[in-house]
Amino acid sequence: MTDTNPKAIYLKDYKEPDYWIKKTELGFDLREDATLVSANLSVIRNENSDDSALLVLHGQCLELVSVSLNGKKLTPEEFSIDDESLTIHSLQQENTLQTVTRIVPQDNTSLEGLYRSQTMYCTQCEAEGFRKITYYLDRPDVMSEFTTKITADKGKYPVLLSNGNLIDSGDLDDGRHFTVWHDPFIKPCYLFALVAGELSCVDDQFTTMSGRDISIKIFVEDKDTDKCAHAIESLKNAMKWDEEVYGREYDLDTFMIVAVDDFNMGAMENKGLNIFNTSCVLAKQETTTDAGFQRVEGVVAHEYFHNWSGNRVTCRDWFQLSLKEGFTVFRDQEFSADMGSRTVKRIDDVEMLRTMQFAEDGGPMAHAVQPASFIEISNFYTLTIYEKGAEIVRMVHTLLGGELFRKGSDLYFETHDGCAVTIDDFIAAMTEVSGRDFTQFMRWYRQAATPELKAEGEYDESAETFSLTFSQSCRPTAECSEKLPNLIPVAMGLLGDAGALPIKLQGEPANIETDDNTQIILDITEAKQTFVFENIKEKPVPSLLRGFSAPVKLQYNYSRDDLMQLMSRDDDGFNRWDSSQKLAIQVIQEVMAALVQEPAPSVDERLIEAYRSVLTDESLDAAMVAQMLSLPGEAFLAEISPVIDVESIHHARNRVERKIAQALRQEFLDAYQRLQSSGEFSIAASEIARRSLKNTALHYLMIGGKSDAIELCQQQFVNATNMTDELMAFTAIVHSSKASISEMKEKSIQSFYDKWQHESLVVNSWLAVQASSPIPGTLAKVNELLDHPAFDMNNPNKVRSVISIFAGRNAINFHRLQGDGYKFLADKVIYLNKTNPQIASRLITPLTRWGRYDDTRKGLMKKQLERIRGQENLSKDVFEVVTKSLSN
Ligand code: TRP
Ligand code: ZN
Repeated sequence: MTDTNPKAIYLKDYKEPDYWIKKTELGFDLREDATLVSANLSVIRNENSDDSALLVLHGQCLELVSVSLNGKKLTPEEFSIDDESLTIHSLQQENTLQTVTRIVPQDNTSLEGLYRSQTMYCTQCEAEGFRKITYYLDRPDVMSEFTTKITADKGKYPVLLSNGNLIDSGDLDDGRHFTVWHDPFIKPCYLFALVAGELSCVDDQFTTMSGRDISIKIFVEDKDTDKCAHAIESLKNAMKWDEEVYGREYDLDTFMIVAVDDFNMGAMENKGLNIFNTSCVLAKQETTTDAGFQRVEGVVAHEYFHNWSGNRVTCRDWFQLSLKEGFTVFRDQEFSADMGSRTVKRIDDVEMLRTMQFAEDGGPMAHAVQPASFIEISNFYTLTIYEKGAEIVRMVHTLLGGELFRKGSDLYFETHDGCAVTIDDFIAAMTEVSGRDFTQFMRWYRQAATPELKAEGEYDESAETFSLTFSQSCRPTAECSEKLPNLIPVAMGLLGDAGALPIKLQGEPANIETDDNTQIILDITEAKQTFVFENIKEKPVPSLLRGFSAPVKLQYNYSRDDLMQLMSRDDDGFNRWDSSQKLAIQVIQEVMAALVQEPAPSVDERLIEAYRSVLTDESLDAAMVAQMLSLPGEAFLAEISPVIDVESIHHARNRVERKIAQALRQEFLDAYQRLQSSGEFSIAASEIARRSLKNTALHYLMIGGKSDAIELCQQQFVNATNMTDELMAFTAIVHSSKASISEMKEKSIQSFYDKWQHESLVVNSWLAVQASSPIPGTLAKVNELLDHPAFDMNNPNKVRSVISIFAGRNAINFHRLQGDGYKFLADKVIYLNKTNPQIASRLITPLTRWGRYDDTRKGLMKKQLERIRGQENLSKDVFEVVTKSLSN
């Protein structure tokens, strides 16, 4: 940094604003050279503030054209202005403030505020982007009624949208036209949105539970109108689900979604006018994988659910971000669970949490779900705020049960409708309906890092008791050095030879809820605590943390035979899967420890046998089988290693995978043939399950590398009629290490591109598959991709597909001991720091994890972080991440 370093702001310093803005009237005059923004604000002094209080409006990258107060133009002595604010010196109780500012959206590459994406104008205001549009109190506790007039060239921008209802429109001279929008619901400015462009509209409608007709409109480029049906279906399902499960009805007459190509995140819940990354809204069979369809469903629902959890009830300040995000993620997870397979959804979510969020919690950027301070709020749109926040809400749901939880959420929405509130207000509603004390529970929000829970079992044959002793601990983090014990709900059961054992706890302490006879939820509250189960006639295998009932690292010394038993017989589907992962981890770690040996270490046959019985049991759900037959990923194996050994994780995992592929070749071949499609394409859960197991089989067949497998893969690649099958075959070909197929590989890469070059989202997958290839030499390939005409450094989806995928999902190539992977990443960060700080700062993540590696890599990674820190004009975003990751 050049002059002064950016400063942190603290939750404890929160103060209400000195002024409120009751009404906001905006005018946008969109022109090719610049845009003029006029703002007419009714500004009222906070009754708790004294009459000398200045009005300090936020503003960034704005050119002030004029400012008037109560109809009188202000002279330069009556206000002051700097790079980040406009201060008005003397105000009355009630004022009207008028400003005119000039902005240049076509030069705005940061993608916050008003900017251009392809041929349209659009906005992104969360968290603090509105201040790049006009001078304002850009904080979520200032809620205002917005009216917006947009004027633009009619030929180039026939569609002009903003929040709420269209109240006026008309043609002007010079081929220009205008629309006026009024949003009757007060909102903070981060929920403001504007769109102008040449867009096609796909229409539908939904009738609410009270019988109101809502018009649904999705705006996309004309070529994409055939990719909207799934988003519309998902939206209607989400609307219905929120009515049934939460009693929440939509409030405006129209719900609009606009798809844009250039977007920093997935999507944004602007009131009545959601703006989506094209990747999270467009979907059709030919271009979209099953995972892509599910992502669209989840994100459409997420943004829709924000209408209540976020918009009608919003956040008082950005330290409360998880109030809306954690709750809304929990809501969208449960929605997706209800739409598809609940267990499979839970497995997907937990896998992501344990791989990525736990890594965040274990690194220098660890922060509490309600952080105590931050430098740049954009850096706090993290897995911790979203996913761990959702786990905390899930635990509230577990502790209260569905009925009380619903009462609590009803009370929360009713009490705080139209208000900006805190996480404590949410928990207070849950406390009020249940009478439960959440004091200890609040530590989940305020203590960073993942709690570790160790469990030890002891069977006493003569007393016929089984006792379980839990001890919990949590590593110290920057903001909290001594962690207090958490309240950890552990759902569990005991498995005997003939199945689940009935459970009777000694003493039946009051904090134990008995679901039925075979599953209970233990509330662990102490640092160390023992539970004794009575009437246990045989040594049981405990099935712990069912459904992943708390976001902790659980350790229990299972034998491999215990795990095989849980895998095949546990009543909890999640734990059956989790046991398969634990078994595979033990086997892979054994191979890792022996990798240097000659002859090559053997792979425990029990894993093969366990896989064989899962694979050949046709009574099992195919999606579960696919999940159970997938080895834990390299990133997860790294996460659980004390020191990450990139090579041995990669090679040991590959060895085990190859062994499975060889031993079960015939079974995979049979499964592959049996799971061929018979009929029409559908995204029903059963069909997604079928494709996922079929492609798991194909994956193993290709690892086996026999020529008949290659032939099958080639056939699937050429004949596929959906993107799941096509991309899985393509990936298997591109990632294959077999020298004999190198020609086929080059041809496939070319033909895939030729076929899909006009479908930008498919091109993203084409880039990502190449960037994630474990084959040596991928960095050179990645550099070529950056020069490819399909690549665009200003498009975050392209940056993610190549650079983030390479650095985050290709450990063996990124972490090369030459350090060239690290230098490559730092170069890109330094470039993007100037054009798009939000994306630059997210890109740094893999380097921040330097503390987990060997000394050589540590040194190389820190060197690149230091190089970034030494740059002139570091954005707040990048500054915060590099400084924290070098000092924590
Ligand atoms: N509120 C959005 C969501 O989670 C997040 C978001 C979208 C965002 N775009 C952003 C956050 C840009 C920061 C910057 O649904
Ligand atoms: Zn959200």
